[in-house]
Amino acid sequence: MLAEVTQHLSLHPGSIVVDCTLGGAGHAKRIADSIAPSGILVGIDQDESALDAAEDALRLGRQAILLKGNFGELDRLLVEAGIPYADGILFDFGVSSPQLDLPERGFSYHQDAPLDMRMDSLDNPLTAAQVVNEYSEDDLARILREYGEERWASRIAAFIVAARGRRPLATTFDLVEVVKDAIPASARREGGHPARRTFQALRIEVNRELEVIEEGLKAAVRWLAPGGRVVVISYHSLEDRIVKRVLSELAKGCVCPPDVPICTCGREPVVRVVTRRPILPSPEEVAENPRARSARLRAAERL
Ligand SMILES: C[S@@+](CC[C@H](N)C(=O)[O-])C[C@H]1O[C@@H](n2cnc3c(N)ncnc32)[C@H](O)[C@@H]1O
Repeated sequence: MLAEVTQHLSLHPGSIVVDCTLGGAGHAKRIADSIAPSGILVGIDQDESALDAAEDALRLGRQAILLKGNFGELDRLLVEAGIPYADGILFDFGVSSPQLDLPERGFSYHQDAPLDMRMDSLDNPLTAAQVVNEYSEDDLARILREYGEERWASRIAAFIVAARGRRPLATTFDLVEVVKDAIPASARREGGHPARRTFQALRIEVNRELEVIEEGLKAAVRWLAPGGRVVVISYHSLEDRIVKRVLSELAKGCVCPPDVPICTCGREPVVRVVTRRPILPSPEEVAENPRARSARLRAAERL
């Protein structure tokens, strides 16, 4: 959603922009072009290899500062970047195509590889192998239900526990086999790959994906200059629900009960939500890049 991101970030030459999820730097390149020659781009990613690739892709000049870190720690990272404020901040959640396509990262149920799924292989000690082999059956079922919205959560958790009792699950295909065995054949024929929801759930748990969204988004709004924009792209309803809730809370003014004659809460709106409904990718973009089909873009402006 390159055009939509640039449009909603409302970029100008000289803007200071933070890309909190640099990935393959597709958005960052477009942003850097729009704010040149005097703008500053800060690019953040928790994946060291994304930063290395972005450095080449951006052919770094003085206008880009790249930082390894989690946007859950945005305050610390932006202090480190030394910027005074931001005119635009972008979040494009989830995994990148390079992460999905490299079998050894363990994100793909189409390729056999060690069960890893860490976006940050350097500083995150928790792998998907540890989750499936060490979590209790109840915790596994809860994760599959909450993060995968998987209706067969309890059955899959029970099958994982039985399988690991015979030998630890080591690879993505070990897990795919167990999930296939757990889901009844009639249900397996519906709704895409049977392991899709299990993999989504484990990825979210391993990378604490949902926990950091609220912290990151609230910090981003604090860093925005008046008139500055935050743009967020989510890929599933769990992410989008958090984004929608946080932005509408920040857009809310007085929260006094309706029967109180004079406001006592003193609360003022901090942002104006620019996108009343989420913006979806065009059919052309989905045809070109099927991974974009579930993208939802929301934007807000700092008051
Ligand atoms: C969908 S990709 C971003 C693609 C990028 N916008 C582009 O145009 O190429 C998401 C990236 O964000 C990173 N990421 C996801 N969650 C993160 C977090 N909490 N903190 C920092 N980086 C994160 C991932 O490592 C991945 O490289």
